[in-house]
Amino acid sequence: MLIRILPPHALRESDVTPEALYLSRRRVLSGLGAAALALPGLAAAKAAAPALAALNVAARRDQAGGEKVTDFETVSTYNNYYEFGSDKDDPARNAGSLKTRPWTVVVDGECEAPGRADIDALIAGRLEERIYRHRCVEAWSIVVPWVGLPLGDFLKRYKPTSKARYVAFETLYDPKQMPDTRYGVLDWPYVEGLRLDEAMHPLTMLTVGMYGRVLPNQNGAPLRLTVPWKYGFKSIKSIVRIRFVEKQPPTTWNRMAANEYGFYSNVNPHVDHPRWSQAKERRLGELFKRDTLMFNGYPEVASLYAGMDLKQNY
Ligand code: MTE
Repeated sequence: MLIRILPPHALRESDVTPEALYLSRRRVLSGLGAAALALPGLAAAKAAAPALAALNVAARRDQAGGEKVTDFETVSTYNNYYEFGSDKDDPARNAGSLKTRPWTVVVDGECEAPGRADIDALIAGRLEERIYRHRCVEAWSIVVPWVGLPLGDFLKRYKPTSKARYVAFETLYDPKQMPDTRYGVLDWPYVEGLRLDEAMHPLTMLTVGMYGRVLPNQNGAPLRLTVPWKYGFKSIKSIVRIRFVEKQPPTTWNRMAANEYGFYSNVNPHVDHPRWSQAKERRLGELFKRDTLMFNGYPEVASLYAGMDLKQNY
C-alpha cells in the first residue's frame, strides 16, 4: 500500500517477520494469560472484547475450509485504515474518535427506490456469520468470522435499474473524527467499487461485526465490505454511501497507483504486484509462508471473469 514512499528494498518481505514477532510480543504484553492464548480464536475473541455489543447471529457457515481462525487480538490490532494513520497499530490506537451512532448509509444512483438504511435496523435484521480467508495485497492473511448480510440481498431492496452496471462505495470523510484525513496521504474520501455481478455474488458481505460482536472501529465500524476473493483493500470501511452507477467508478488505490492496484484486484498468485510476488502469503501468527490460492481459495467466483484476461484486468 503506502509503501510507495519507501525505497524498494524496504518492502513487505522484510516487513512481515518483524511484524509477526511484534504481534506475539504484543499479545503477551496485552495481559492475555497463557490460557487465553491457547484457546481457539473465537473463545479468545470473546474474552478480549467485552466492551463490544454481542450480535444475534441466525446462521453460521465456515467458508474457510476448516482453517484455524486468527485470534481477535491480531485481527483488531494489525489494520490498514489510513484515515487513522498508516502504521498497522495506528487504527487500534486512534480510531476511538470515530462516532458510529447515529449512522445511516445512503443508497442512490441508478435505482428505482433510492433511500437510506439505519445501522441499528440493519443489525436488528437477519445476520449471518461467515468464516472467510482475508488476504492483503501486502502478502499477509487472516481468517475471520465476519458477521453481516449478503450485500446482494441489501442492494435488491433499492431496485437497481438496467443501467446499473457497477456499485460505488464511499467511506465517511470527517477530519474532526478521522485525524489523518487532514493530510493528503490518500485522496479522501476513501472510495471503492465492484461490478454489479460481483456485488450481487452470494459471497460478498455487508459486514457489521466480527467474532460475534459489532465491529471494532479500527476494523471498519459500523459497516464495511467483505469480498473474500479480492485483496483486502477492496473491503472499504465505515461506509456512508452506496451508489449504483453505469460506468466503472474510481477506486482510491487505483487513483494512487494505477499500475499497482487495478479495479478488479482479485487474489491471483500468477499476477505479481510490480514490486513483489503474490505467489505466497504469511498467515498472521504463523512462521512459514504458504502458497496463495487463486481467488483466495474461492474458485466458485471464476465464472464472473470468464473470457477476461486477468493479467490485463488485475
Ligand atoms: N477502508 C478505508 N476507509 N480506509 C482504508 O485505509 N484500507 C483497506 C481496507 N479498507 C482501508 C479501508 C486495506 S488496505 C485493507 S488491507 C483492509 O481495509 C484491512 O482491513 P482489516 O483492518 O479488517 O484487516
